[in-house]
Amino acid sequence: MAAFKYKLSNKIGPITVEDYRELARRAVPDMVWAYVDYGAEDLQTLQANRSAFSRYMFKRKVLTGNEATDLSVTLGGENVSLPVLLAPTGIVGLSHWSGERGAAQAAERAGTLSILSTAGSYSFEEVAEGTQRDHFFQLYPWADLNTGRHDLTLSLIERAQRAGYRAMYVTVDVPVHGNRQSERKRGMGNPPIITPARVLNGALKPKWWTMFLKHQRISARNLVDAGGAKAAISSMNKQYTMMRPELNWDDFSWMRDHWKGPLYIKGVLDADDAAHAVDLGATGVVVSNHGGRQLEGDVASLDALPAIAARVGDRAEVLLDGGIRRGSDVVKALCLGADAVCIGRPYVYGMAAAGPAGAQHVIEIFREEIKRTMTLMGVGSLKELDSSWLLPANTPIV
Ligand SMILES: Cc1cc2nc3c(=O)[nH]c(=O)nc-3n(C[C@H](O)[C@H](O)[C@H](O)COP(=O)(O)O)c2cc1C
Repeated sequence: MAAFKYKLSNKIGPITVEDYRELARRAVPDMVWAYVDYGAEDLQTLQANRSAFSRYMFKRKVLTGNEATDLSVTLGGENVSLPVLLAPTGIVGLSHWSGERGAAQAAERAGTLSILSTAGSYSFEEVAEGTQRDHFFQLYPWADLNTGRHDLTLSLIERAQRAGYRAMYVTVDVPVHGNRQSERKRGMGNPPIITPARVLNGALKPKWWTMFLKHQRISARNLVDAGGAKAAISSMNKQYTMMRPELNWDDFSWMRDHWKGPLYIKGVLDADDAAHAVDLGATGVVVSNHGGRQLEGDVASLDALPAIAARVGDRAEVLLDGGIRRGSDVVKALCLGADAVCIGRPYVYGMAAAGPAGAQHVIEIFREEIKRTMTLMGVGSLKELDSSWLLPANTPIV
């Protein structure tokens, strides 16, 4: 007779991105949480990014005999085992001391790649030394406030090239800082505003506090160490700026000329802009509103995707980020023309909750959910996904 199996505990670990979000919220001080989880002004764009996905439903087939097993795609010449990259997020070291290096290791173990932020709490070199594969990097184009020259940008590009990064993602949706009031109200800024209550709030998270004091991964190492100078970021801000309202297409062409590998433009929501970037030599376009952290009132990135994919999808890679929390969201984005997606907050939740193992688990959750969704739809391969699999919500099938 088979043994009767049972478990005494009803406790299961995190099994969704939302579970990790809740664990992350409990793991870090309020100031850090505000930085990670909130967005610009009244959070309309942040919420629109999410709700856009629920406006589409699947039109599935039965008895197709299909099972989704292979989710691999090639992006920037690199093969990844699922169509999900880690988006560049600044100062991951605030959420977990191992920061961008730990996140890139997690991505690698899960068979994908990360895009390292210029504002990372680990430098290009540190992440390259700590990983096996060539990852991607994100550029904030800096200029000298006095001369407008590109010297610092050029030194960042050259360092990334020397360190072996494969593709460059230029972020173009930050001409000025978005109005992230929720962060400011909680003291998050440069420099942060520390009050006794905030110190206490940090101290109530002893694990976070101990690691924070021990590793102090709280500044943008690429910039602190720029050009070998040990300048603090605050003093650099007096000479250099990355908020550049005057940035234009000539600057983008300059970057194209100076970066030898695949080049992506990140932060595009308009099909003409996407076409212009591709005409100037962009390998790909990241349809993104910076996770609702920049222009409040920006359209949801999913709503900008179909027109951009229709315009440039035949000659450039199209990626999307913003609001992706489920494998079914990834599948919807792919149906609407994306080749792959990037996730921002989801892996930072994983890092805050459980370090690199948490980030890796988040990626595995996406993999399982994508496979299950596709198999339930009756789809066997990513290539089959197109808009014919979707229907606007609450629409009868005719
Ligand atoms: C905490 C945080 C920091 C970010 N820092 C950067 C950055 O340094 N460079 C950049 O291009 N985008 C940055 N972003 C935007 C992400 O790359 C991405 O566009 C966004 O997170 C996608 O939305 P999601 O968080 O809903 O997945 C950041 C986002 C977050 C949440």
